[in-house]
Amino acid sequence: MAEPTAPPIDVDHPYDAPADLKSRLKASYDAIAPKYNEWTVPHSTTRLHYLEQLLGRLPSTPVSVLELGCGQGVPVTQKLLSHPNFSVTANDLSGGQLALARASLLPDPPGPAHGRLTLLEGDMLALDFPPATFDAVVGMYSIIHLPRAEQVEMLRKIVAWLKPGGWLLANFGAEELAGKEAENWLQEEKGWMFWSGWGTQGTLEKVKEVGLEVVMQETVEDVADAKFLWILARKREL
Ligand SMILES: C[S@@+](CC[C@H](N)C(=O)[O-])C[C@H]1O[C@@H](n2cnc3c(N)ncnc32)[C@H](O)[C@@H]1O
Repeated sequence: MAEPTAPPIDVDHPYDAPADLKSRLKASYDAIAPKYNEWTVPHSTTRLHYLEQLLGRLPSTPVSVLELGCGQGVPVTQKLLSHPNFSVTANDLSGGQLALARASLLPDPPGPAHGRLTLLEGDMLALDFPPATFDAVVGMYSIIHLPRAEQVEMLRKIVAWLKPGGWLLANFGAEELAGKEAENWLQEEKGWMFWSGWGTQGTLEKVKEVGLEVVMQETVEDVADAKFLWILARKREL
């Protein structure tokens, strides 16, 4: 996807994300959601490929999944919900994105996902769940929007929320990026955007430091020229 191109890496000069980062991101995704989705959904092969890697490891018993930054829920949330034994908690900062997700996934009259999908609007970092709530946490093209110090905090929370043996499937920027802003992402006037990341090696270190075992790691050139690290990692059994 057209995430940042060659980033201005300068790790000696820490980047301070704008104080109003989350409200700006929310406003942007509220404004650009239709354009973003129209652009990205046809490029879902990579998402679905990695989702299959996770699905193949989940049991046929009741499964509880948390999706961070679910966007408009198609195709990933939808695919999760196609498994009748799955309950999905899907979070997004953007009410606009969640309204689209609600329309697709919770139609009136009620469809098969009713009762198995909870939509939660807000900053993923502000979510709060009891320890060991989820069998899997999924974050596609979303954790990359947190300032990178928050990405580590997010990983710690994810580990706490996962059951022992639970899975994290997520992608991160493959290039080290203290922080990058764009004014008109996707040529949208209201498309202010922000990304950051620790790069492949840094992210893998952080993922291991928080106590996850990396089972799969792949660096993939996405559409446009952005590179992402995809990881599937597991919380150790007790
Ligand atoms: C690039 S889109 C990806 C959406 C979807 N996961 C997909 O694969 O198409 C990033 C999504 O993350 C959401 N997002 C950004 N920052 C967030 C945050 N701090 N907490 C929750 N969601 C966030 C945005 O609103 C947006 O819907």
